[in-house]
Amino acid sequence: MRYLTIDEALNRGSGAVNLRGWVYRERKSNKFVFIVLRDESDIIQCVISKEKNPELFEEATKLTIESSVRLTGELKKDDRAPTGYEISPVSDLEVIQIADPFPITAEQSLELLYDNRHLWLRSRKLNAVLKVRHCVVGAIHEFFRSRGYYLFDAPIFQPIQSEGGATLFEVKYFEDDKIYLSQTWQLYAEAAIFSLGKIYNMGPTFRAEKSKSSRHLAEFWMAEMEAAWMKLDEVTEVAKDEVRFIIQEVLKHNRKEIEILQRDIDLLERYAKEEYPTIKYSEALDILANEYQMHVPWGKDLRTIEEGKIGEYFNVPVVVTHYPTKIMGFYKPPSEDKPEEALCFDMLAPEGYCEIIGGSERSLLVNDMIKRLEAEGEDPTKYEWYFDLRKYGSVPHSGYGLGVERVVSWICGLDNIKDAIAFPRTMTRKNP
Ligand code: 4AD
Ligand code: MG
Repeated sequence: MRYLTIDEALNRGSGAVNLRGWVYRERKSNKFVFIVLRDESDIIQCVISKEKNPELFEEATKLTIESSVRLTGELKKDDRAPTGYEISPVSDLEVIQIADPFPITAEQSLELLYDNRHLWLRSRKLNAVLKVRHCVVGAIHEFFRSRGYYLFDAPIFQPIQSEGGATLFEVKYFEDDKIYLSQTWQLYAEAAIFSLGKIYNMGPTFRAEKSKSSRHLAEFWMAEMEAAWMKLDEVTEVAKDEVRFIIQEVLKHNRKEIEILQRDIDLLERYAKEEYPTIKYSEALDILANEYQMHVPWGKDLRTIEEGKIGEYFNVPVVVTHYPTKIMGFYKPPSEDKPEEALCFDMLAPEGYCEIIGGSERSLLVNDMIKRLEAEGEDPTKYEWYFDLRKYGSVPHSGYGLGVERVVSWICGLDNIKDAIAFPRTMTRKNP
């Protein structure tokens, strides 16, 4: 017996088909049982008639939400059915398992949905998001591979920090030692570019963010790149091309998901083709002051609310460069003409999604880095291997990291980043 997915059946358009899946919705009357069948590809209404098949009707009346079935029937066009087609009549029905009462019903608290995440994954919304995520991840690999970047894997257990000690996850390392979970791939990537030139990676990243915001996860996936010889003005253009490419791929492969998520496709099409501006941090402050009467003193980091306004002002992703050196990580170099400005950038997405990428040129100034590490309370001797990279054929180089869930969240128009990953980990959620 050959089974079609619902999507394959819909493409066929008519005739007898064998399907298998789960009961997404069911409705019973005296004469008919209507079930909406769900599989990985779509949903379709299936009609079981008492008059035509009393035994099947009897069997079908026992079906509950999420029961698993195999069935055979005639595929027909019917404008009243949810997807424009239905299976009518069902001529054969095999019940695989009658599901217990499903804990997720129409009106649910968010907490209950997160507690039942292992079951909620079956929802049309999460199914659509996971498919978009699949496409985004594939697009990132393709983007870098097709441009001559090598995949390079760094350790997840790391003995030093690079993005601030406050968000480190410390783990016991054998008997009486400790180590940290990776906050970034970057430092190891900086070693590898001397061998491989241009590299990229996508991997799990850990930050003990003591934040209940809708944009922070404790475990997320970061897609990073690093390239020898590359300067700030070039790396920002790679980042823009990457984001446009990701959106183009989603538009190519995920039309159906965009519709299910009710995401504005015109907006995505605009993001896929328009130029993204680059401005300096100081220009961002001017825009905030002049357009929004928000007076951020020079030297303060942009908060979410301010990033949001910059995103609103441009209405496409915008690259902001030259943040104040003193609030940046030790590896972001001071610019030569204005050392108070660092050669770094963030990309801010519009519609309130804010920072999706962070990156920079990398400092080649060992003494400056030592001072800044000391100021952060770090022991610079632990960074000797990293400083070696400045001693043996040092070259200018740059890189950035893109938050996969931040991008999926934005592309899908999600309210919370937790829905951009299957099993979210945050300060207040580690189950299931
Ligand atoms: O800006 P960040 O901290 O940059 C770095 O870690 C650099 N070392 C990357 C590099 O240059 N190779 O993080 C990069 C991106 C952010 O722009 C954001 O999109 C995402 O990672 N990100 C998070 N996403 C979800 N939850 C969190 N807690 C995140 N922290 C950062
Ligand atoms: Mg950042």
